[in-house]
Amino acid sequence: MLKRPKISVIGGGNVGSSCALWAASKELGDVVVLDIPQAEGMVKGKMLDLAQCSPIERFDCTITGTADYADIADSDVVVVTAGIPRKPGMSRDDLVETNVKIVKSVSQNIRQHAPESIVIVVSNPLDAMVYTAWKATGFPTHRIIGQAGCLDVARFKTFIAMETGFSVEDVNALLLGGHGDDMVPLPRYTNICGIPITQFISEQRLQELVDRAKVGGGEIVKLMGTSAYYAPASGVIQMVEAIVKDKKRILPCASYCQGEFGINGLFVGVPTLLGASGVEKVIQIDLDAQEKKLMDESAAHVQELVNLVQKLDPELK
Ligand code: LAC
Repeated sequence: MLKRPKISVIGGGNVGSSCALWAASKELGDVVVLDIPQAEGMVKGKMLDLAQCSPIERFDCTITGTADYADIADSDVVVVTAGIPRKPGMSRDDLVETNVKIVKSVSQNIRQHAPESIVIVVSNPLDAMVYTAWKATGFPTHRIIGQAGCLDVARFKTFIAMETGFSVEDVNALLLGGHGDDMVPLPRYTNICGIPITQFISEQRLQELVDRAKVGGGEIVKLMGTSAYYAPASGVIQMVEAIVKDKKRILPCASYCQGEFGINGLFVGVPTLLGASGVEKVIQIDLDAQEKKLMDESAAHVQELVNLVQKLDPELK
């Protein structure tokens, strides 16, 4: 019998409930959103509210709010949004001590209740939390992926579209590295409908847009006092869609590198072929000397965070 895909989201806060909203409105599958027992009423209420949009928005799927991990059984994809977000003045790295405990415990529950699922992590500091989920689930690396690049590149594309006045749909861009302020946008691989971006924007202005994209998360935290959620969730759902529809998209994701880009044994943002089995391939591209240097610096920062995770919790070694 054919079955709808099942998408579970751990954490019913702003990112988690936005994931549910996008997943339902795109009719990607049945949706479960899980939160801690103290927030059970909140998450049940939010999901009932969302379900009541279905006659208007015209989606057929079940939407469940829960605090019971048994409800995530048989999930095809589990999205981990759990953890605290940043406040103004904080870097993503300041969250590591609190979030490593949360993501570890969530991951152990995923291992127990949805052992065949593909896990997409969005909790921060992203690259270290993907590593934590990998260690704590024990899942093969093709079933553990971090969402960051889809968001970062969407920010960069948005700024380019705002600057040029062209449709966002015609802006193509690529971005590598960790989800920190040292992420690596690649102006060389940026174009409008195949036409090199330098035909429309000066190199100096483009660099300014690159710099804005790098601190794009912080810009929003400063404005609203907490971290972004619509676009982070949208990035997650772009990945979920690629998986549940087996689209074979190439998306920038935090994927496990085994020598690609000179990186070994780390989850870092790289162009990733996403399909029904999760990460189907890391796509290598040539980097020039400057891009390679930035990529190495970004990977070194991710390594430092992973070292910190291992120090905080030696079980995650
Ligand atoms: C951001 C957070 C979610 O970049 O990391 O907005």
